[in-house]
Amino acid sequence: MLPLDEIDAMDLQNKTILEVGTGNGGTTLEILEYIQNEPTTRLITTDLNAVDLNPFISQFPDMKERLSFIQTDATELLSIKPNSVDILIVDYTLCAINSISGKFLDALNKFKEVLKPNGLLLLEEEFPIDSPKGKEHPLWKMQWQILKRMVILAGKLPNNEIPLGDLKKSLKILNFNIENEITGITTLAFEEAYPHFQNRITHLKRFLPNFWSIWALSLSKINFRMRLKRAQLLHIPYYSLCCRNLGPK
Ligand SMILES: C[S@@+](CC[C@H](N)C(=O)[O-])C[C@H]1O[C@@H](n2cnc3c(N)ncnc32)[C@H](O)[C@@H]1O
Repeated sequence: MLPLDEIDAMDLQNKTILEVGTGNGGTTLEILEYIQNEPTTRLITTDLNAVDLNPFISQFPDMKERLSFIQTDATELLSIKPNSVDILIVDYTLCAINSISGKFLDALNKFKEVLKPNGLLLLEEEFPIDSPKGKEHPLWKMQWQILKRMVILAGKLPNNEIPLGDLKKSLKILNFNIENEITGITTLAFEEAYPHFQNRITHLKRFLPNFWSIWALSLSKINFRMRLKRAQLLHIPYYSLCCRNLGPK
């Protein structure tokens, strides 16, 4: 969820918002909802993969001239000029960037470069499953263990979540001031959580190398479904940070 409180206090006139990691557009829709009545606010959304903006524009026709998409790696942010962004929003994407271990640092350096002095960086991420949160939320941990194993069997790199303490240390080194830190839990009902899990499994299945890995996946899926059905709810622990760019490192 977008930490809207942080930008509530800001004058959004003539501001440029950059989103990194459009994905399925969950956060993009939230931002559009928020800025649709701010006629001078611009949103540039970016992702490593191509994204079709048409569904967004048909939902927010007034945003046609003020919404654009750039397909680019977060560590490159092609076409985004240094010191040009007022608010940079990165939701559940640093862990994907960091699937190549350590790459989140390159991305943070790039964010620093494109943000204006005093600009805001809003980050939201799930905790790593091997953090104490994994013990507190075993079902959430189980879901990620299954998905991460399958991603590896499928020959891809799993997301690599960043411990909150490490992220804060890196942000301070880059001369960001952490103005607000929230840790919380998103709760999904079985009816929402399971289809989401199942979609990911269906996607991954196409890349699995042999019968045995598909069999292992099916067993894990049945086991997870049973436990989730019994619990009815999936609790997802997350953190969000609002950081101000204080200028040169
Ligand atoms: C979980 S999704 C983002 C979810 C999105 N914020 C939402 O609310 O729906 C993560 C996204 O990060 C993108 N991604 C992964 N590595 C990336 C990179 N190096 N640079 C830019 N985007 C990347 C993926 O293509 C994916 O769309």
